[in-house]
Amino acid sequence: MAARSGVPWESLKRGRMVYLSQCGRCHELVPPAGVKTEDWHLVMPGMCWNAGLTQADEALVTRYVLATKLP
Ligand code: HEC
Repeated sequence: MAARSGVPWESLKRGRMVYLSQCGRCHELVPPAGVKTEDWHLVMPGMCWNAGLTQADEALVTRYVLATKLP
């Protein structure tokens, strides 16, 4: 996945950890495949604000979610 997305493995790992620990707090985890890429870009800023994430973590979790959607 790191190779396909061009995102370093460490970033994906951190993004995944944030996703799993934060994004299921208020609702069931929304699987990356369940939302279109364009819609993720719209939803993420609001959801990361909900979760109280730093901008750095927002960037990482967004890259993780989008990396898992690559064909
Ligand atoms: C503080 C609570 C809270 C946290 C934390 C949270 N969400 Fe949400 N989320 C909501 C609520 C409430 C809704 C439904 C209302 C809305 O769409 O704004 C929602 C809706 C969504 C939707 C929209 C589903 C759809 O089909 O339109 C997605 C996708 C989503 N969340 C993803 C995430 C992700 C990814 C994270 C982690 C960064 C996250 N959420 C963290 C409260 C939260």
